[in-house]
Amino acid sequence: MKVLVLGATGLLGREVMQVLKDRGIRALGAARSGADLQIDITNQMALFRLLVRVDCDAVINAAACVDVGACELDPEAAYRINGAPAAVLAAWSQQTDGRYIQVSTDNYFMGDLPEKHDESALVSLTNAYAASKFSGECLAREAKNSLIVRTNICGAQKGFGRWVIDSLKTRAPMGVFTDYFTSTMHAHHCAETLADLLVSDATGLINVGSCEVSSKARFIRAVAQELETKADWLEERSVASLKPVRARSCGLDVSRVEDLLGRPMPTLKETVRILVAEDNRCATPTTSNLATAV
Ligand SMILES: NC(=O)c1ccc[n+]([C@@H]2O[C@H](COP(=O)([O-])OP(=O)(O)OC[C@H]3O[C@@H](n4cnc5c(N)ncnc54)[C@H](OP(=O)(O)O)[C@@H]3O)[C@@H](O)[C@H]2O)c1
Repeated sequence: MKVLVLGATGLLGREVMQVLKDRGIRALGAARSGADLQIDITNQMALFRLLVRVDCDAVINAAACVDVGACELDPEAAYRINGAPAAVLAAWSQQTDGRYIQVSTDNYFMGDLPEKHDESALVSLTNAYAASKFSGECLAREAKNSLIVRTNICGAQKGFGRWVIDSLKTRAPMGVFTDYFTSTMHAHHCAETLADLLVSDATGLINVGSCEVSSKARFIRAVAQELETKADWLEERSVASLKPVRARSCGLDVSRVEDLLGRPMPTLKETVRILVAEDNRCATPTTSNLATAV
């Protein structure tokens, strides 16, 4: 099996590349720079030509703009990265019967409770990021061999996970949200699950995340515990004041994926354990970027 991974240099894409290689699956990575293949997926003709040239059996699309603020400032650019390429990928999948996994988000659910939303839950498009990702889902659905994966990930390389570890280690001032709930899982666990789903016959929409819904505050306190840091300086806050507006009840019901794969999704404890273990292995310091935290 030959798999094309779009967004191969990202937080999730890197893990997907590694997991596929570990499983002896031939994986070709693509991004605008730093990957096996160079592509700007906003150029639809270039994406189409790449698909023809690579002649793969499957595509995992983990390329995205995950900067919620940047998406809000330029919704059209957000759509061209997070939405429109799915039309090309779906057409390719439909024509070749190639397997197509579209990675999506959990940023769809309002409310302020740690609820678990299943795949049939009603979505709210509260910001341009959510709208662009949802349009990608709708376009991807057109292919009968596609699977749309809603998830929320962290890792020690960048984004929310990096920010949490850096801030806890340096005892930096931290505002922690008590009313923003997610089923965050580590990118490596997500990549393992994507690799399992790749060879399954699941189609449509599926949630992939931790089996536990936790607030950002609880998640951060769990990381502190794993780092053996007494987090007594954290300042509890509400996400309600954050702009652009976030969907904040983003918990995912992962029953479908658990039933399908016959194994439980990771707990909060397992997630923070692998996050801290990854940080311990990190050879070079990386920059944190709060803007990509969701
Ligand atoms: N990170 C999170 O907290 C989070 C939460 C929920 C869902 N997700 C979803 O998970 C998936 C992966 O996110 P991630 O965190 O791994 O993102 P990331 O770390 O920002 O990586 C994005 C990847 O996409 C590539 N990319 C961006 N623009 C591109 C373009 N125009 N053409 C080609 N490649 C492009 C980037 O490489 P270049 O910039 O070099 O092109 C990079 O490889 C996305 O679908 C995202 O919506 C992420």
